[in-house]
Amino acid sequence: MSSNTTLTVDNKAVELAVNEGTIGPSVIDISKLYAQTGMFTYDPGFTSTAATESKITYIDGDKGVLLYRGYPIDQLAEHGDFLETCYLLLYGELPTAAQKADFDYRVTRHTMVHDQMNRFFTGFRRDAHPMAIMVACVGALSAFYHDSTDISDPHQRMIASMRMIAKMPTLAAMAYKYSIGQPFVYPQNDLDYTSNFLRMCFAVPAEEYKVNPVLSRALDRIFILHADHEQNASTSTVRLAGSSGANPFACIAAGIACLWGPAHGGANEAALKMLEEIGTPDRIPEFIARAKDKNDPFRLMGFGHRVYKNYDPRAKIMQKTTHEVLSELGIKDDPLLDVAMELEQIALKDDYFIEKKLYPNIDFYSGITLKAMGFPTSMFTVLFAVARTVGWIAQWSEMIEDPSQRIGRPRQLYTGPTERQYVTVAQRG
Ligand code: SDX
Repeated sequence: MSSNTTLTVDNKAVELAVNEGTIGPSVIDISKLYAQTGMFTYDPGFTSTAATESKITYIDGDKGVLLYRGYPIDQLAEHGDFLETCYLLLYGELPTAAQKADFDYRVTRHTMVHDQMNRFFTGFRRDAHPMAIMVACVGALSAFYHDSTDISDPHQRMIASMRMIAKMPTLAAMAYKYSIGQPFVYPQNDLDYTSNFLRMCFAVPAEEYKVNPVLSRALDRIFILHADHEQNASTSTVRLAGSSGANPFACIAAGIACLWGPAHGGANEAALKMLEEIGTPDRIPEFIARAKDKNDPFRLMGFGHRVYKNYDPRAKIMQKTTHEVLSELGIKDDPLLDVAMELEQIALKDDYFIEKKLYPNIDFYSGITLKAMGFPTSMFTVLFAVARTVGWIAQWSEMIEDPSQRIGRPRQLYTGPTERQYVTVAQRG
């Protein structure tokens, strides 16, 4: 449904269409504004800008709501598994039993990578950050899978999507194994997606590896929580890269690069390092003071969100999962968890955080859980990338299938020098 609104620019009335979504804020269509007024809108950071129309994920930041294709995140995390969520995000509906079995079968049989991919790893230092390896290796997939890089072919797009979802855990496990000098472990088709990933990470040739079903279920739920999140920075990166017609592997590599930043997916690694730096609850006030100090760039990692001005619904489920994992592993008093829970209590009562609506986000608890599972801090954002790949792919597909899709090309407010004439070096004094 749409209506109109009027904007007055230089005493000239400009009619702009207002379009309504099914839920959430309406949008003012400014696509003709420059032609009508010779002016651009200005919104660095896109705090008030809808860059696209989408039917995939809805977030209500004030109510702490997150829906994947209309289904609340807590119900999907409670009752479903990650591959069911992948199917839902990609195709828009929950799968029937037959559709789920077929989807699981297809993903499972794309989990191996071309064996020459192994050679990339020997080119890296053992202490290379695994996110650097993932950016490189995922981009390099386009050097191997030429039969699924033609984005105009729906069949090739589907194969590329399957390959991305299926191969990310394999590459992630290889990056981890390489960093600890252990041999790569190949995927095993009789294991479910997340159990397969745990085995590729933690099995060694010297003995049988038994997947802990509680840990596998917990990690599968963590993947569900991280699967998609509307037009966040890395998803917007994938969409912008895809708008030029770049192949899906290159677009996902761009998304991984963006996710790496500590303000985005890198926050789970940064949050755990912050908890380790705080060390004990008695040092919390010192760090709270630093977070409030305008002259100190320090921020409480794992706190705050551009959209959630109420509790991140994923953080609640993450906290519950943390307790489940620690109890399954018999970890009674994790000092990091003590610091995290004390920090959360103090921050949620502090006027600064209340006024700025800063609540724990999904990254606040995820690091404690992943560390307890045996993952090094450097692997936390890699796990986020494994989960978010399906969101990137679903959003990329939605964009490619949109007949009105054009290359993304923002403009600017220019405040640099006006035209001036070249002077030779002799004249420059
Ligand atoms: C993710 O977009 C997504 O959906 C992302 C994500 C996803 O699933 O894709 O949800 C995943 O990236 C979660 C966010 C993880 N990042 C962190 O935890 C890093 C710490 N948080 C911040 O850097 C910050 O809160 C952001 C980046 C998350 C949001 O930044 P905004 O919306 O641009 O807010 P801002 O930086 O303008 O901050 C508003 C105010 C500022 O104070 P003033 O300048 O108004 O005085 O709040 C302050 C900030 O200084 N502030 C914080 C703070 N976060 C914001 N102060 C202390 N600690 C913090 N964590």
